[in-house]
Amino acid sequence: MTYFCKNIYKYKQPTILILDSGVGGLSIYTAMRKLLPYVWYLYFFDNQAFPYGEHSEIFITNRVTSIIKTVQNQHQLDLVVVACNTASVVSLKILQNHFLFPIIGTIPAIKLASKLTRNGIIGVLATHRTANHDYTWSLIKRFASKYKVLLLGTSELVHLAESKIYGEKISLSMIRNILAPWLEMKQPPDTIVLGCTHFSLLKKELITTLSSNSYLVDSRRTIAKYSLRLLQRNETLIKDPINNVNYSIRPNKIYCSMDTTKVIKLKSILLSNYNFFSLEILSI
Ligand code: DGL
Repeated sequence: MTYFCKNIYKYKQPTILILDSGVGGLSIYTAMRKLLPYVWYLYFFDNQAFPYGEHSEIFITNRVTSIIKTVQNQHQLDLVVVACNTASVVSLKILQNHFLFPIIGTIPAIKLASKLTRNGIIGVLATHRTANHDYTWSLIKRFASKYKVLLLGTSELVHLAESKIYGEKISLSMIRNILAPWLEMKQPPDTIVLGCTHFSLLKKELITTLSSNSYLVDSRRTIAKYSLRLLQRNETLIKDPINNVNYSIRPNKIYCSMDTTKVIKLKSILLSNYNFFSLEILSI
């Protein structure tokens, strides 16, 4: 009798780089870990250039390209997730042409919103840059042309989401002011696209402020599912970690671009709440 033994050492643990200007990408990271717990995650937050929404397109594209190159010099990457809508609408196509490994971007979930809206009014909450970008307009044209789409650009919410991670109290009256254009409407949007990954961290506060009929959508699950599909296509990567007995998980790692006193506080928060093991400064 002949036994065929699958060589478990043939397959490697996938390495995914998730990057954002700040902590917004953690919302994507959390969703990805649920679906892909066996991946080795590297999370880069570009605190030196935060917030991206206030930089030029060329700056953002060069910055994100440099980050990927810098991390790539240290680790063999199987997939990169640009966990930032602003950076994605601006640079995704350029990045995908530049690198050989797959790169996924985060774009406003307008397609999903168009399937869910009941009153035909969709709100897109994003940074000014994302809200005004052609990429966003092309999504609206493609998926929501028969609906009314209201765009609201804000950088204040990005800062509020960063404060929340540090345990600061979030002012609901500030959120009410930001959302005032919609709150004052007779017929407000019933489906709100969170077109900035930071905003997913403020879901609770946004739901409290908006009407109880509002439905919030983001791209987290879509990205996790798409990442799974892309990893499955790569023959060299582990697909079934449970059956790989000798498979050992490397501890997830955070990188940031600048050392500050805030980083020390953030480090302990991320290490205890997000299952990271270490934080390193990588200058870009
Ligand atoms: N998380 C980024 C996004 O999704 C934040 C934007 C910023 O840094 O301005 O757009």
